[in-house]
Amino acid sequence: MIPVNEPHLGKRELEYVSECVRTGWVSSSGKFITEFEDGWASYCGRQHGVAVSNGTVALQLAIVALDLNPGDEVIMPAFTIISCAQAITSSGAVPVLVDSEPKTWCMDVSKIESRLTKRTRAIMPVHIYGHPVDMDPLLDLAASHKLAVIEDAAEAHGAEYRSRRCGSFGTMSCFSFYANKLVTTGEGGMVLTDDADLAERLRSLRNLCFISGRRFYHEQLGFNFRLTNLQAALGVAQIERMEEIVRKKRWIGQEYTRRLQDIKTIQLPAEQPWARNVYWMYGIVLSSDTRMDAAVFAQKLKNRGIETRPFFLGMHEQPVFQRQGLFHGERYPVTERIARQGLYLPSGTGLTEEQLVAVSTAVREVLS
Ligand SMILES: Cc1ncc(COP(=O)(O)O)c(C=O)c1O
Repeated sequence: MIPVNEPHLGKRELEYVSECVRTGWVSSSGKFITEFEDGWASYCGRQHGVAVSNGTVALQLAIVALDLNPGDEVIMPAFTIISCAQAITSSGAVPVLVDSEPKTWCMDVSKIESRLTKRTRAIMPVHIYGHPVDMDPLLDLAASHKLAVIEDAAEAHGAEYRSRRCGSFGTMSCFSFYANKLVTTGEGGMVLTDDADLAERLRSLRNLCFISGRRFYHEQLGFNFRLTNLQAALGVAQIERMEEIVRKKRWIGQEYTRRLQDIKTIQLPAEQPWARNVYWMYGIVLSSDTRMDAAVFAQKLKNRGIETRPFFLGMHEQPVFQRQGLFHGERYPVTERIARQGLYLPSGTGLTEEQLVAVSTAVREVLS
């Protein structure tokens, strides 16, 4: 089986993790935490980094730090992982959806304005599968309506929008370092910001709102969302070879495109002129001419030894939200189509040329 993704860890990771074990710094204090926070903030062009246990809680912490009132609204894409909507609903706010733009599969920024109401407080753009959202018009809209922006760059480590790194935009940006991400700490996440007060608040919320000067005295409730030094050690090692990781991901993306671009019945990932796609995962969308949905296609590839993953299911189609009465009767046609017709191919940094050729050949055979 050619796996959809495999983490690719090296000698440096082992060396740094061994140092944690040797010195006993295995919990949530230690030099690798600060090195990871500072290193990642600096890589993304930000002032402050607050490392947390995963990408889901990074989004949750960012939302909590906005101090929203119940019923306040946050605009987000319909096509994304549930973490985004869950972060919003868990603090009593309401997710308001916009459909995807058909080429990049990212949120269609031209549809945001029509979703604004008096209760809108923030926008959460999500860079999908390594391609950036069209940030300039989104940031203009946010500035003119005084809205916060929480950028979800979990899938876009090293990607660029108009030569600026993803993760450098808006009030706060959030990352996941799950095993399938370009930088992985096993589980892990981070919130970045340029606002020192906000960073302080995020640090406090991450660590149960302990206060300095008086132990075990709390004026507010927080969370235990801490990352360990052991995990951060992995991250530090990978920041050192980010250039190589991004180069490999872009090679995989470009090589798949070169081999598959003549197949008329599939849509391949885009790279807009203003974007640098890191092809976190190489997604393809089947056209209706194939008379096949992605689930059937995935099974045929599996029979040929190739693992794939389906695309996200839109937030408005999630039973858990439907039961809560959210998104009642709402339709998002692009999201609905790509959710049914899309899947992604093996895309991990360990993928060899031989495997990539085998995958491309299998895709062609199944479609012919
Ligand atoms: C866009 C996006 N946001 C958030 C997350 C959540 O991250 P985690 O799995 O680390 O909780 C993911 C995870 O894959 C993601 O793809």
